[in-house]
Amino acid sequence: MDVVVYESLYGNTAAVARAIAEGLGDDARALSTREATPEIVAGARIVVAGAPVHGMSLPSERSRASAAAKPQGEGHLAADLDHPSMRSWLAGMAHGPRLAAAFDTRIRGPLGHGGAKAIAHALEAAGLTLLDEPRGFTVHLHTTSSTPAALLAEGELDAARAWGTHLREVAASRT
Ligand SMILES: Cc1cc2nc3c(=O)[nH]c(=O)nc-3n(C[C@H](O)[C@H](O)[C@H](O)COP(=O)(O)O)c2cc1C
Repeated sequence: MDVVVYESLYGNTAAVARAIAEGLGDDARALSTREATPEIVAGARIVVAGAPVHGMSLPSERSRASAAAKPQGEGHLAADLDHPSMRSWLAGMAHGPRLAAAFDTRIRGPLGHGGAKAIAHALEAAGLTLLDEPRGFTVHLHTTSSTPAALLAEGELDAARAWGTHLREVAASRT
């Protein structure tokens, strides 16, 4: 099985994770950091991990709390903090020789490219081999949407699906 593990406060990273899993194929599942238990991850062939960029890096307990204190947009969309941060999930991840890839979601513009890179470093430190460069997907800076996962820039879910397929092909060429 392949897994795409995500942290997602407003549903965008989760939507990207599901699209990547679709591209990876029938044997792939998108799982939150709560659902992706060490037992499941230890048995995975490819582990893709993603999170939103907060403060130019991965979300911290402080940035998650600040997001929770400020509901988004006209609909006052509340942050989902039901699952642990990617930071803490990575700290508890089982080490082992598996294939991997890292992504983040971020606002279009000069801010922040550190989320996916930080995940990639942690995956490599845990002994996994990266299949591709860390990848970013874009959300809009300003939105009035109150619907989770409605903030993604147009075309990003198609790009995520295509990237999942690319990862599958790179993995196949290595085995
Ligand atoms: C507290 C906070 C800090 C953020 N900092 C950045 C940042 O430094 N750079 C950036 O591009 N986006 C930043 N963002 C925007 C997030 O990347 C965006 O909310 C996220 O991609 C949405 O994904 P999600 O719906 O999965 O939570 C920040 C958002 C929050 C809530």
